[in-house]
Amino acid sequence: MSVAKKEYKRVTVKSLIEMKSNGEKISMLTAYDYTMAKILDHAGIDVLLVGDSASNVMAGHETTLPITLDEMIYHASSVVRAIKRCLVVVDLPFGTYQADTKEALRSAIRIMKESGGHCIKLEGGSEVKNSIKRILKAGIPVMGHLGLTPQSIYKFGTYTVRAKEAEEAEKLKKDALLLQKLGCFALVLEKVPAKLAKEVADSLTIPVIGIGAGSGVDGQVLVTHDMLGMTHEFNPRFLRRYLDMYNGMNTAVKQYIDDVKTVDFPNEKEQY
Ligand code: KIV
Repeated sequence: MSVAKKEYKRVTVKSLIEMKSNGEKISMLTAYDYTMAKILDHAGIDVLLVGDSASNVMAGHETTLPITLDEMIYHASSVVRAIKRCLVVVDLPFGTYQADTKEALRSAIRIMKESGGHCIKLEGGSEVKNSIKRILKAGIPVMGHLGLTPQSIYKFGTYTVRAKEAEEAEKLKKDALLLQKLGCFALVLEKVPAKLAKEVADSLTIPVIGIGAGSGVDGQVLVTHDMLGMTHEFNPRFLRRYLDMYNGMNTAVKQYIDDVKTVDFPNEKEQY
């Protein structure tokens, strides 16, 4: 289905809410560095998420827990320097907002001041209500994140689909409403049944951006390295690969090695 798109010179949190009310789906991808962010922004992506998935994708950690606030600020400031149009959302990493509201506000302020990001995202519902309130009160826009929340992986034990049972689905619906009531401008729903995700999106005025949450939500987010096929060992059902960069890069690098070894590179035109 094609929808008439309004041109946004700059995407803001207000643009996202407007897109939802106009029925225009929101496109969001992750970015952690300058070069990738420049390509994605130039292609017209609406939102770049400096996700704490940088912990896995950039640093090779098993979970998102180890990444620090300083590291997130480094990634986010690299992304901000690259972009001209899109909205930049920065994840508050694990351990920087759960302990108390004062620390949560300090962490969010550091992200805004030191990276130039436009807003923050954090995981959880009623458990982090007071931190969200305090951050919002300081004028910092907040995106929520419910469903599979990778910072709580040791509580869940697995990365399987969340909220399949009625009790967890009810809590998720309540939390989504709470996040809207508190003043969050949008919400990520990760790995929940499509029917539940649609129900949540239909019940809210703020946009719901899904990852593994079906097509009934207001936008989609994927990890860029996965959708470009740079990673190849991660194959969840929800992932569509738009390129096979892993094999493409492998072939290119093998050719380069061969060219160096055989002194095919550099040739006469490639030297001074
Ligand atoms: O950190 C991240 O990449 C995320 C997305 C999976 C939504 O939070």
